[in-house]
Amino acid sequence: MSAEAAARGRRAIYPGSFDPPTNGHLDVIARAASCFAEVIVAVVVNPQKRDPMFALEEREAMLRNCVAGLSNVRVEHFRGLLADYVRTAGVDVIVKGLRVVSDFESEMSTALMNRSLSGVDTFFLMSDAKYSFLSSSMVKEVFFLGGDVAGYVPEPVLRVMSVKRTSLNAR
Ligand code: PNS
Repeated sequence: MSAEAAARGRRAIYPGSFDPPTNGHLDVIARAASCFAEVIVAVVVNPQKRDPMFALEEREAMLRNCVAGLSNVRVEHFRGLLADYVRTAGVDVIVKGLRVVSDFESEMSTALMNRSLSGVDTFFLMSDAKYSFLSSSMVKEVFFLGGDVAGYVPEPVLRVMSVKRTSLNAR
């Protein structure tokens, strides 16, 4: 069986903070959706890195708007260990995007730990080169300091960010 055929019947999970979703995330989601039978985009409830700027509900809503055209993609959330959620959701494969070599260094140990805990492997997709510099934190910084991020986030995300900026400026 070819790798493509083997991948076709499988349920994949693409976990992340998505604070906010970027065009880089959407590119990985679309490419994963073409490889796997089903893709669950899973928003972590409390990212370890920092307090999210966008509430869980906002991040889920933004993602749902962005993936509305992809029939085999659904958006969920999870709290706690990804390995536990993977087991309860009946997931076959974890998908992650890799932008640069430094991503690989942390993702490799994470993938090994997740496989050790859950038995589920991580498939890596190389980010499109045009998104290799893109991160949610950079998009937030540029946007909230007045920069133009229209080329870096999908339209539904830009709308929510604009509302957030207006409400923050009104304080
Ligand atoms: O978009 P991010 O912030 O890079 O995503 C990181 C995420 C959510 C995939 C990672 O922090 C995660 O899986 N968190 C869940 C908690 C967990 O399982 N930690 C152990 C990983 S070995």
